[in-house]
Amino acid sequence: MAEVIIVSSENEAGAIVADEIVRLIRANPETVLGLATGSTPLPVYEALRRRLEGVNVSRVRGFALDEYVGLDPAHPQSYRSVITREVVEPLGLAPELIRTPNGSLDGIEHAGDDYERAIVEAGGVDLQILGIGTSGHIGFNEPGSSFASLTRVKTLIEQTRHDNARFFDSVDDVPMHCITQGLGTILRARHLMLLAFGENKADAVAGAVEGPITASCPGSAIQLHPHATVVIDEAAASRL
Ligand code: GLP
Repeated sequence: MAEVIIVSSENEAGAIVADEIVRLIRANPETVLGLATGSTPLPVYEALRRRLEGVNVSRVRGFALDEYVGLDPAHPQSYRSVITREVVEPLGLAPELIRTPNGSLDGIEHAGDDYERAIVEAGGVDLQILGIGTSGHIGFNEPGSSFASLTRVKTLIEQTRHDNARFFDSVDDVPMHCITQGLGTILRARHLMLLAFGENKADAVAGAVEGPITASCPGSAIQLHPHATVVIDEAAASRL
């Protein structure tokens, strides 16, 4: 059972997760962070900006959860660009130590295995930040994903493409495919911290935290993890 913390604001949630990250980095300057994109983790990165001033982050390593397939890495909405803009640059992390799955079509067939190997070689993820999609997805593991899955290419469902259309000119510009850490990859992280805000996440949160453990709600995989923390606002908690 995950620990659930209900907060009164996104900033409060960001501070809770950021405090834990700073504690880890102070204890181990080679901490390996699992980074997430989307709107939800932004308060964490914002809170980290102030807290990491004066902390040595030059050896912190990071692995993003996912990436679009076939989108130019220089595209402003590629997760490589997003992580660079929202995490690496503002926090002063070393760009060469922060990885995103390689979504280029060239070599896509071994990109998943390469990524898994890199995570293992780094010693595994110490703390994985997670958001959750309205479909219950974590990373881009849509309903039906195996709990044993590792990093691989997946097809995005219509609901997710629609949800993410706000980052593009239109839904037609949202890529059809992604490469995402699997649920098995995510479950190997030593600590999961899942955040969610707003009423539109309430069903996904209820499924993840209290629903049956089922591939129909990929977020329910967190119930299998020995150290999972869920940090949510009252609206996202409203169906618990
Ligand atoms: C995105 C990402 C997920 C994210 C989720 C929720 O598409 N691939 O990692 O957690 O969907 O996004 P948001 O936080 O913007 O609601």
